[in-house]
Amino acid sequence: MPEPLQIEFAPLTAAPVGTVVLLAGQDLALGSVARGFDERAKGALRKAAGAADFMGKAKTAIEILAPAGLDTQRLLLVGTGRAPKETDRLLLGGYAFAQINARKGDSATLVADPADAGEVSADTFAADLAFGALLRSYAFRKYQTRKPTEDGAEAEVRDGLRKIIIQCPKPDAAAKAFASRKAIADGMFLARDLVNEPANVLGPVEFAERMRDLARAGIEVEILDEDQLEALKMNALLAVGRGSERPSRVVVLQWHGAKSKRAKTLCFVGKGVCFDTGGISMKPAAGMEDMKGDMGGAACVAGLMLALATRKAAVNAVGLIGLTENMPSGSAQRPGDIVTSMSGQTIEVLNTDAEGRLLLADVLWYAQERFKPRFIVDLATLTGAILVALGKEYAGLFSNDDRLAAELAAAGEATGEKVWRMPMAKAYDKLIDSKNADMKNIGGRHAGSITAAHFLQRFIKDTPWAHLDVAGTAMDSTRNEINPSWGSGWGVRLLDRLVADNYEKQEK
Ligand code: BES
Ligand code: MN
Ligand code: ZN
Repeated sequence: MPEPLQIEFAPLTAAPVGTVVLLAGQDLALGSVARGFDERAKGALRKAAGAADFMGKAKTAIEILAPAGLDTQRLLLVGTGRAPKETDRLLLGGYAFAQINARKGDSATLVADPADAGEVSADTFAADLAFGALLRSYAFRKYQTRKPTEDGAEAEVRDGLRKIIIQCPKPDAAAKAFASRKAIADGMFLARDLVNEPANVLGPVEFAERMRDLARAGIEVEILDEDQLEALKMNALLAVGRGSERPSRVVVLQWHGAKSKRAKTLCFVGKGVCFDTGGISMKPAAGMEDMKGDMGGAACVAGLMLALATRKAAVNAVGLIGLTENMPSGSAQRPGDIVTSMSGQTIEVLNTDAEGRLLLADVLWYAQERFKPRFIVDLATLTGAILVALGKEYAGLFSNDDRLAAELAAAGEATGEKVWRMPMAKAYDKLIDSKNADMKNIGGRHAGSITAAHFLQRFIKDTPWAHLDVAGTAMDSTRNEINPSWGSGWGVRLLDRLVADNYEKQEK
């Protein structure tokens, strides 16, 4: 496995190591260049920028080799664009990483001069650049042992850039600001790893076993096996796993970080279908491999819990993960089967490919019975229909609580992990009434994401609840400056921000 990118902070006056990266704003003021370099060096850089038509726009860079008057082999001038906002700063750090990494050398020095910081402090600026660079440095290369070179011979996979030193006015303060971001990156990388892992390696039992590692971060880890799930009467969840050789699991992750003993638990629930063939209502072959990512919601909950614990968030939080594999076999559930969920409500399973909601029905019920939480947010790669509605830019948000929905929307805007609230209404709910049982697990051709959400809502008592349909955002995600990965780790930053901005201050 490649070592993770090392990030260090150093004063602006330190001698640079490796490739030197300077930032330039849209006005080409060369904020960082103004400091520390003599007139001759500045002149040479301006000349090079002019020759390359470099205007300091975001997502542009030029390389200057052996620049006159500077003691470096390679210098990169990277555009910041105009007044970079939070997400722009992350994207800028990610872009800078990619620019450096595409070239030779295993170390680089990025000069984060406050003149380029825009609206925030130099510490925040440096920490955000570092965070963006770190997120971009992720690679899932576990199974790529060798890689062909241009002449067809094989070579070891290159490690590329190993270390970035970020120069800023107050390195200690920047390092402190970076620590919580690093915790979030750890959580996102865990989520990405889990989603990218193929299903032959990561089944329900393996996923659950990996969660034991979280104990090292101070998380209480509990794994419920099939006997325990049986005793709890989680028949809807168990029904999904019946066709698989691999047993189902539920994982309970608890983080106790609240100062007050009375603090109510924040609850996060994730769909963890380690592979979704559709079951007897089997999916077509084309693209089915993507269904190794049908545990993206569960991966996000795991990553979020790791982030909260690592940065010692001042809240009590519980992550509940339902793990199954949806396979066709002689023991699989059939269309038309009726199961009695833990809540006592009966479900007619008309399509075994609508399995996520079955599993969530029981985990949501269990979450409320056991924890009486302040709120529940569930994440699930629940419907293909959410991709039709929103594509890959926004996750679908469904909620019974305007305040929680507004908090999520605000956290989405701040982090760039955006959510779009979808309607819920009685008329949609009626579509899942069944003639033979209390409800059926599909609602017909229309509004598939909404009827799925209504199905979940039938297992919510009066707890404030939000459901995020992440089928478009958790896997096969749009690559960008901070996400080079198929499994995006989407939702970790969003929910960490929801917690930080609304639930870590004293009782509200
Ligand atoms: N895991 C799928 C949803 C999905 C589709 C996630 C595409 C990511 C990409 C889910 O279990 C499913 O199969 N949903 C069905 C529901 C239908 C049978 C009512 C769907 O979306 O087709
Ligand atoms: Mn399915
Ligand atoms: Zn599924």
